[in-house]
Amino acid sequence: MRQRDSYAEPFRIKSVEPIRMTTREHRAKAIAYADYNLFNLASDDVYIDLLTDSGTGAMSDAQWAAMMTGDEAYAGSRSYYQLNAAVKDTFGYDYFLPVHQGRGAEQVFMAMMVKPGDTVPGNMHFDTTIGHILLKGGVPLDLVADKGYLIESDDPFKGDIDLDKLEDVLSDRSLSVPFVLMTITCNSNGGQPVSMANIRAASEICRRHGKKMFFDCARFAENSCFIKMREPGYADKSVIEIARETFSLGDGCLMSSKKDGLVNIGGLLCFRDEELFRKAWEYEIPYEGFLTYGGMAGRDMAALAQGLREVVEYDYLEDRLGQVEYLAGLLKDRGVPVILPAGGHGVFVDAKAYLPHIPQTNFPAQALGVELYIEGGIRGVELGSCAFGHTDPKTGLEVPHKLELLRLAIPRRVYTDRHMMMVARAFEEIGKRKEGIKGYRIKWQAEVLRHFTAKFEKAR
Ligand code: F0G
Repeated sequence: MRQRDSYAEPFRIKSVEPIRMTTREHRAKAIAYADYNLFNLASDDVYIDLLTDSGTGAMSDAQWAAMMTGDEAYAGSRSYYQLNAAVKDTFGYDYFLPVHQGRGAEQVFMAMMVKPGDTVPGNMHFDTTIGHILLKGGVPLDLVADKGYLIESDDPFKGDIDLDKLEDVLSDRSLSVPFVLMTITCNSNGGQPVSMANIRAASEICRRHGKKMFFDCARFAENSCFIKMREPGYADKSVIEIARETFSLGDGCLMSSKKDGLVNIGGLLCFRDEELFRKAWEYEIPYEGFLTYGGMAGRDMAALAQGLREVVEYDYLEDRLGQVEYLAGLLKDRGVPVILPAGGHGVFVDAKAYLPHIPQTNFPAQALGVELYIEGGIRGVELGSCAFGHTDPKTGLEVPHKLELLRLAIPRRVYTDRHMMMVARAFEEIGKRKEGIKGYRIKWQAEVLRHFTAKFEKAR
């Protein structure tokens, strides 16, 4: 990747959206009113919103133009055929269904594939994926390689699956495994990429055991670009060539197109196998919609068709990954421990190391998220013991997660490097008083996916 200050963004700004800074007093009140859960804030009270890179990106002029061509026919929409062509060109699978977003694909797919008691291995499942596997009575199993849990390491592919563990799980006759799911990039440990070598080896293991391998490919273009930048033998291949090679090693994919589709809503479910595709119809129609729209408006399908073509452009991806790396560097220089090398879609702060005086049972990543909001009006998201831990029903005690991260996800084509500098400045201020930051406890939680709606109070 080139030095960040040796080139400019490969776009200019045609439409602007004002944002406003609030007072510290206002933010302290707003977050208390939100029960210290960042999801409960009104976005007007947020200055720089790094809650997620999902559905928060800016569309291009060509995508807005495509919106106007959207065909809203219930069946056989022209926009569906445009999307079909872009999907085939990108992923190479013959069969595809549109869905309203990634979890729509998960709902259809898990309903048709997972039976109670099944084990679903993958490198590291995302939270809604875990939710859907559990809802079908299945058991999600994360097999990411040990390096995936190291905060600082120069390993270029920390999203790789542990091949020995995969082999063991697939050889274990006591387990019923319907398929293997590879998440590219691996969101839950920092947007870390999976290498082509690892994908190929995992695919071979699956084939030997007669198992299908699918991709959760919300950020496939970022993963492909990392392969181009980091994996020997891929420097001269284009991103789209690398993407096609990746998908050729699997049997289909689930995609939230709110990320690398460069659109604000939508998703895809693709199959190599016609029989599975037909099986999916049984769930697609009642859950999502007819086969040629599946929860998407025609105009959104038209924008997605264009987005899939733009997202694999190298200039765009170099700028995108470069901005994430830039923010990671700013924070590192200020003594903030972050996952390195930086991942594709955000900077992940190790809150356990940054706030060692807060026990994990008092949610240090959540505490840091609240503090960053109060300091700079900046909203991140906790991906630690609230999102991935749980309360033991027998003891009532918190069972923490291995990683305790605050994610600062960067929306695509939305913020400039000066916004990133504001984030770094907020951390400078927090650094001066971080020993005084207090933890939290949960005063109410939902049974599934508790972090979205949990209510917190300050720990005594
Ligand atoms: N898979 C991965 C890897 C994801 O990151 C997400 C969403 C989904 C599936 C579900 O897709 O939101 O369109 O229903 N991730 C978002 C995030 C929400 O903030 O990381 P969805």
